[in-house]
Amino acid sequence: MSSPKDTPPSGGGLLRTKTVEQSIRDTEEPEHALRKSLSALDLTVFGVGVVIGTGIFVLTGKVAKETAGPATAIAFVAAGVVCALAALCYAEFASTVPVAGSAYTFAYASLGELVAWIIGWDLVLEFALGTAVVAVGWSGYVRSLLDNADWHLPDVLSGTDVAEGFGFDLLAFVLVLLLTAILVVGMKLSARVTTVVVAIKVAVVLVVIVAGLFFIDTANYEPFVPPAEPQPSGSGFDAPLIQLIFGYAPTNFGVMGIFTAASIVFFAFIGFDVVATAAEETKLPQRDMPRGILGSLVICTVLYVAVSVVVTGMQHYTELSVSAPLADAFKAVGHPFYAGVISFGAAVGLTTVCMILLLGQTRVFFAMSRDGLLPRFFSVTHPRFGTPYRPTILLGVIIAVVAGFTSIDELATLVNIGTLFAFVVVALGVIVLRRTRPELPRAFRTPLVPLLPALSVAASVWLMLNLPAETWLRFGVWMVLGVIVYFAYGRRHSRLGAGRGVARDA
Ligand code: ALA
Repeated sequence: MSSPKDTPPSGGGLLRTKTVEQSIRDTEEPEHALRKSLSALDLTVFGVGVVIGTGIFVLTGKVAKETAGPATAIAFVAAGVVCALAALCYAEFASTVPVAGSAYTFAYASLGELVAWIIGWDLVLEFALGTAVVAVGWSGYVRSLLDNADWHLPDVLSGTDVAEGFGFDLLAFVLVLLLTAILVVGMKLSARVTTVVVAIKVAVVLVVIVAGLFFIDTANYEPFVPPAEPQPSGSGFDAPLIQLIFGYAPTNFGVMGIFTAASIVFFAFIGFDVVATAAEETKLPQRDMPRGILGSLVICTVLYVAVSVVVTGMQHYTELSVSAPLADAFKAVGHPFYAGVISFGAAVGLTTVCMILLLGQTRVFFAMSRDGLLPRFFSVTHPRFGTPYRPTILLGVIIAVVAGFTSIDELATLVNIGTLFAFVVVALGVIVLRRTRPELPRAFRTPLVPLLPALSVAASVWLMLNLPAETWLRFGVWMVLGVIVYFAYGRRHSRLGAGRGVARDA
């Protein structure tokens, strides 16, 4: 890998690297600057705000029932470990390159423009589809609350699902548009709203854990790791890639089932990396970034394990509901009041998840546009609100439409593979940057480099291999499309390529 210090700038080089100093300087151009207002606590709230969501509220039941039984708690631990390894790499990058853009910016400073583009394109997939998934999950909880009040939306406005067929999800569509408007008005407002909502969401999760403890029947933990059983027949293409590679007949449950489950419940952790996208809006990124990222991750892992242990103890895994498992477990033990409170909290909580994913999405797009890889038109901030309002509006409308017309299952695994891929690149980036720029100040240093980043790569790839083969195919198609867009537009319009973003020739 070439070093930014000794490699002459090359207008056509795929490995051209934007220096860290240049990344920071770009953020100081007034019309392209974001306001710096966030503290470590804001970031932690931000992290917890986005991390706890559809994953724990919806996927827990589905995964326990279909893939891992009570051992879902172990799957959460496995996914949490993968995220912790990645978080230690993210924290070093975020505290070294404190500018908007997350893994995209970090990759630009370490692995070169093509890799940065690939990562940015990948993050667009993660955040845009993630927003849509959560909006649809939110809509389900709101409809269940409306049903309690005997108020029913017509099926055709209740979204697409396997049983009911095609429909338009009006609630998900409206939610995304409303959140888009809030983000255009500004960070300050959204941070305040976020704090209140996060408090409600965490309170509801604690209610599940504490109240649920009293209804645990230890007989429900038998068997804790249910024996492997053949997957219901399909094309085989929806089986985990690893099982296809090694020629296994695809199975659910058993030890392999725990890893399959981990690759799905991984969705519940997505978002802690979004904290890194707010580096440019953080007062003291060198100190607060690592605290915000690791803090939110630890809190969430503890809560997830507790929730899954409690819920699989309240109801036998074969009887869990797949749409609102936390609330329905309380109905099953005769406590509909708790069920209502939980549904309400879930509906409120998913709102912030959706909003922060949308925010991360627009910030990545903003950074790519500021670098000229996407049209510069999108990186002019609002004269009054100081927000990147153009990409916010464009992406908000597109995501609202996607959320309106798609079902969530397959989208969630696609989001997971995209995120894990970003983890791999970030971990490699830590190793590369240590070699090419050893002198850079790092407020947070990943321990045991290169061993720990190498472990992070291996762990992320392992989870990716446990995702369905068809997810790999879809991801491949999206990435090939990205490379085409890069060569057709980004490569020629890059500011770095034009010499305007190259610090080393200054
Ligand atoms: N981690 C977030 C969720 O579970 C995306 O919904």
